[in-house]
Amino acid sequence: MLVKSLFLVLPLAIAHSWVERVRRLGLNRTMIGDPGFIRGAMFRLDPVFNDLKQQYLLPPPGRDASLGILPSDPICRDSQQTVGQFNASLPPLQASPGDFIALQYQENGHITLPENTPHKLRNSTVFIYGTCCGRVCTSSPSKDDRLLSTHRVWNACGTGGDQRGVLLATRSFDDGQCYQINNGSISSARQKIYSKVLMNPQGVDIWCQNDLRLPTDIHDNYTLYWVWEWPTIPTGMVPQGRMEVYTTCMDIQIQPGIPNGIVIFEKNQDLNFAGIEEQMLAN
Ligand SMILES: *[C@@H]1O[C@H](CO)[C@@H](O)[C@H](O)[C@H]1NC(C)=O
Ligand SMILES: *[C@@H]1O[C@H](CO)[C@@H](O)[C@H](O)[C@H]1NC(C)=O
Ligand SMILES: *[C@@H]1O[C@H](CO)[C@@H](O)[C@H](O)[C@H]1NC(C)=O
Ligand SMILES: *[C@@H]1O[C@H](CO)[C@@H](O)[C@H](O)[C@H]1NC(C)=O
Ligand SMILES: *[C@@H]1O[C@H](CO)[C@@H](O)[C@H](O)[C@H]1NC(C)=O
Repeated sequence: MLVKSLFLVLPLAIAHSWVERVRRLGLNRTMIGDPGFIRGAMFRLDPVFNDLKQQYLLPPPGRDASLGILPSDPICRDSQQTVGQFNASLPPLQASPGDFIALQYQENGHITLPENTPHKLRNSTVFIYGTCCGRVCTSSPSKDDRLLSTHRVWNACGTGGDQRGVLLATRSFDDGQCYQINNGSISSARQKIYSKVLMNPQGVDIWCQNDLRLPTDIHDNYTLYWVWEWPTIPTGMVPQGRMEVYTTCMDIQIQPGIPNGIVIFEKNQDLNFAGIEEQMLAN
């Protein structure tokens, strides 16, 4: 059980989440083609890997809590600020305009072991932004994009803020089925309902996913910002609560062609490769 142990020995108390992998989804909701990766990706099993090489938290650890998130805080960590900052051995996803895609991440106990973080909002939200708007896609992502000038500023119709980007989707952090193996009641219940065969890189777990459809008028390098709000709820210690945001920045290399046909969901698919019907229909 070497594989199992590699994926189970996670420091749940400190591990946070980022987008591990990006997949194309066929119209039958099966993941197809080669997986893609985020800017500056690193393989989890790499000897020099650790969470801090991928995760990005705002406000940054160590900042005086009363300052919060500042207007100067970039939306992307330093290893993810420009197009082309990808790792050649873990390249970006290739997809077509109008493709369905899945952004996958580990819940790290934030869903299945809520008792570990009683001060946190249980059902938190992920916001997914795309740079360039629905009209004519002439703008490009910028290394100067700031969290506070994009997140909750760019909107679905592309009229927010500097209008260089659009809110593509909001999704519940908890997709309703993902889990990591532990003896908590949520994980135990999901292991029974959503059972699957052990398969790398997820191992025995099922990663969470945000499924969405790409716009149809995009080309070249299309940039996505994944923004997870995981606030601390108001308590005696922190009467106002406190916002905590994690982001991941990634590009998708857009290929010609638009998927043709209607979405027909095959039931009973292998959960190692299946999208989530409600999310694919939610756009
Ligand atoms: C869904 O379609 C793809 C081809 O696009 C195919 O490879 C896959 O096997 C199909 N999935 C199921 C469950 O039939
Ligand atoms: C690219 O990924 C490989 C595999 O994890 C890793 O060995 C390498 O250090 C990464 N490169 C960079 C620049 O992060
Ligand atoms: C897309 O990004 C690649 C680097 O990843 C770069 O070589 C290429 O010029 C970019 N394309 C455009 C049109 O900006
Ligand atoms: C979380 O909230 C969303 C709506 O905000 C809802 O659709 C989803 O079912 C909720 N998930 C859980 C696990 O309660
Ligand atoms: C899960 O296991 C841990 C230690 O192995 C134990 O402390 C805890 O009580 C267990 N929880 C449940 C729900 O069985």
